[in-house]
Amino acid sequence: MLLPHFPLYCLLVHKTIEPTILYFGTPVALISTLNPDGSPNLAPMSSAWWLGWSCMLGLGQMGQTSDNLIRTRECVINLPSQDQVSQVDHLALTTGKNPVPERKHSWGYQFEPDKFGIAGFTAVESQSVAPPRVLECPIQMEGIVHEFRPFGKNVNANAFEVHIVKLHVDEALLDGSGIRPHIDPTRWYPLIMSFCRFFGLGGEVHPSRLAESEFMKFVNQGAVSRPEERNS
Ligand SMILES: Cc1cc2nc3c(=O)[nH]c(=O)nc-3n(C[C@H](O)[C@H](O)[C@H](O)COP(=O)(O)O)c2cc1C
Repeated sequence: MLLPHFPLYCLLVHKTIEPTILYFGTPVALISTLNPDGSPNLAPMSSAWWLGWSCMLGLGQMGQTSDNLIRTRECVINLPSQDQVSQVDHLALTTGKNPVPERKHSWGYQFEPDKFGIAGFTAVESQSVAPPRVLECPIQMEGIVHEFRPFGKNVNANAFEVHIVKLHVDEALLDGSGIRPHIDPTRWYPLIMSFCRFFGLGGEVHPSRLAESEFMKFVNQGAVSRPEERNS
């Protein structure tokens, strides 16, 4: 019999487990880079996070995108919405690397020289970097690699710190009511990858005190600064 006021969470049982991956759910990004022959490459990835106008990307060392970022130091981070999931899925198990590394070949990867074409995406010129943007993606971030280093405990990957130098956003996502336009999160439907499966966002689950704080006033109305002056 339970004691009065016995907290229910005391009944939770946690097991210690050791899965190979810890992909708890992050937005999917499509990274465009330039191959050595000047053609565009496009890689789906989801190990990405942002702080201020900086972004960290985690990319396997076997991939062509990793090579391209080290060689050219330029990319566009395109964010698809959940509506574009089938196009994104066409890019799965493809690589711009030829020949395909043996390990990836054994996982079913194939060389694909025209990633934009097979996914039905349109390449449009960027303003500040050489790799093209994905026209259909509602958010496109032109970026410069600031630093990179090997990353990972049981994975051969690189962590790339990318500084965003230009941001393009579909007008339909914008709240233009403040001093400067910003992205209205209620109009933005990111595609989320969680343990290799695709999800969208459910509805908002709780009011957020951070979103209602003075910090958000700073975020939404603060003085516009040049990208090189921005920090978090
Ligand atoms: C939705 C999705 C998310 C992925 N996330 C990552 C990731 O975060 N990091 C990574 O290295 N590979 C990720 N991959 C696998 C890459 O797409 C794969 O390594 C691909 O070969 C990279 O292309 P590239 O070799 O032309 O650079 C993901 C694949 C899919 C379909």
